[in-house]
Amino acid sequence: MTSSERVPALMAKELSKRYGALQACDQVSLTVQPGEIHALIGPNGAGKSTLINVLSGAVRADSGSLSINGRTVTRASLQQRVAAGLSRSYQVTNIFQTSSVFENLLLAVQARQGGHFSFLRARTRDRALREAAQALAQECSIEASLWALPAGTLPHGEQRKLEFALAWAAGPSVLLLDEPMAGMGPDETLRLIELIESLRGRAAMLLVEHDMQAVFRLADRISVLVSGRIIATGTPLEIRENKTVRQAYLGDEGAEC
Ligand SMILES: Nc1ncnc2c1ncn2[C@@H]1O[C@H](COP(=O)(O)OP(=O)(O)O)[C@@H](O)[C@H]1O
Ligand SMILES: [Mg+2]
Repeated sequence: MTSSERVPALMAKELSKRYGALQACDQVSLTVQPGEIHALIGPNGAGKSTLINVLSGAVRADSGSLSINGRTVTRASLQQRVAAGLSRSYQVTNIFQTSSVFENLLLAVQARQGGHFSFLRARTRDRALREAAQALAQECSIEASLWALPAGTLPHGEQRKLEFALAWAAGPSVLLLDEPMAGMGPDETLRLIELIESLRGRAAMLLVEHDMQAVFRLADRISVLVSGRIIATGTPLEIRENKTVRQAYLGDEGAEC
């Protein structure tokens, strides 16, 4: 392999998933390079969430293969995929609603780093974990004034940011994000765009998103999924100018992006 050929962070080959008569994912091939933000767009019911579930290991593919950082994980469990560097953001329900924001962050950090600190004395370990949780909060722009609040009382946008932080805590090299901006107002959307922008290059991200402002601002490349099939992959400019994509999905909206 020459130096110009990088090992892809994520490489899916002809992944398929059928639900009864419905082919939700139809031979989907997709490559995400290290540090790349790759957006996956397409109409409702196109199979985007199914693909995320197949990639994360929540749903088993009928056929096809998947590798993460060059490691084949096609039949690997969720935990094995996380060990290979894959993380995904879950729905808000993954947050412990009655625990404080900081406790949520602590638990996430502990899940990843607890083992590393096991040789330390309890007090030192607690301090190291707290510092790691603080660093995570700062990295993900979760303001200190929110840390003591029960997570369930945060505004929607802050909860989604916390959800993002919990996924980021795993230190992923590949992060799967399924509509992280869903239900957010324009200000909250902007703040999450800025957060993702600030982490650009530190992990490959596969971003499923309907918000075209977010997609065209963040994506290095975009793939378009329609009826379970990828109909185009390209730079934002290529996708905006792609006739088939405009007809199948973007319509006039694409012209404004
Ligand atoms: N667990 C499931 N059982 C049966 N059908 C499903 C299941 N999950 C998704 N589907 C169907 O697969 C298709 C793709 O759904 P989904 O992946 O959620 O699309 P998207 O995220 O692009 O809106 C839809 O027709 C949906 O109804
Ligand atoms: Mg979906």
